[in-house]
Amino acid sequence: MTEERIVSPETNEQEESLEKSLRPQYLSQYIGQDKVKQELSIYIEAAKNREESLDHVLLYGPPGLGKTTMAMVIANEMQVNIRTTSGPAIERPGDLVAILNELEPGDVLFIDEIHRLPRVAEEMLYSAMEDFYVDIMVGQGPTAHPVHFPLPPFTLIGATTRAGMLSAPLRDRFGIISHMEYYEEHDLKEIVLRSSDIFATEIVEEGAIEIARRSRGTPRIANRLLKRVRDFAQVQSDGVIDRNVADQALVMLQVDQAGLDYVDQKLLRTMIELYGGGPVGLSTLSVNIGEETETVEDMYEPYLIQKGFIKRTQRGRVATALAYEHFDYPFVEKND
Ligand code: ADE
Repeated sequence: MTEERIVSPETNEQEESLEKSLRPQYLSQYIGQDKVKQELSIYIEAAKNREESLDHVLLYGPPGLGKTTMAMVIANEMQVNIRTTSGPAIERPGDLVAILNELEPGDVLFIDEIHRLPRVAEEMLYSAMEDFYVDIMVGQGPTAHPVHFPLPPFTLIGATTRAGMLSAPLRDRFGIISHMEYYEEHDLKEIVLRSSDIFATEIVEEGAIEIARRSRGTPRIANRLLKRVRDFAQVQSDGVIDRNVADQALVMLQVDQAGLDYVDQKLLRTMIELYGGGPVGLSTLSVNIGEETETVEDMYEPYLIQKGFIKRTQRGRVATALAYEHFDYPFVEKND
């Protein structure tokens, strides 16, 4: 179900190659995330002036907001190589050692989904990050002994959907912690215009605004919707994306006026129709809509909370008056 979801912030291989072609290379080309960019530009300039590697960076925030892109931009700005891996891709400590072994002084090591790193690999990172060495166990049984393995100074950039999912010892080793926020509509509009330019697609400003407005604050979704709207414009119209074409295409894609798709709608409707608006536990809700609890918590819920459709309470999730209004249900205030 998730794979087909047009507003899912998750990506796949084919889409990754599309994202690559749209990716900004430098901070000056990166639209939005002004606070993160401003801070990073200072730390990058200072590290370059001192001819040192940049301090380790933790980027956290919902999927699809450009954490990988930002890691690549940082490496470009530092004029160093970047090596990319992910928490789940590292199964054994040896996998991590192999990657660390290839680093050159100043390089960036990017670990996506760093909260999913196996414990043994995570513990190996402690000394690697702090003092640039790892101790590798050589031999087996009584002859087993650690071998000290020095590393060049490097910058670890970790990405995670929630900083709270990281263990404290790992989190504490990041000198720079940056929170990526959902994008403002005007930034998403600029991203849609930039992408249209790269695609050589004709678009008017109102068309870009309509796509931006219904992209859940997420560039990955904005670019995905743009591609589908472009197809629609080409076949059903004269190829130019205006507000009307964008709206018709989005209606066809079942993306509603607030940018919610059928999964979001099902989630909110379930809360209202089955649980009287809540409070309802996250796991109960997840079972009802046929999604993993973690998926609901990381991908669907944050946007619905940010937009004020859901509230988190001690006793579970609650649908707000706005959610009731969205589906034309009368809202009755409860006192719990
Ligand atoms: N494409 C996707 N995300 C982008 C961003 N933040 N800035 C510019 N282009 C993008």
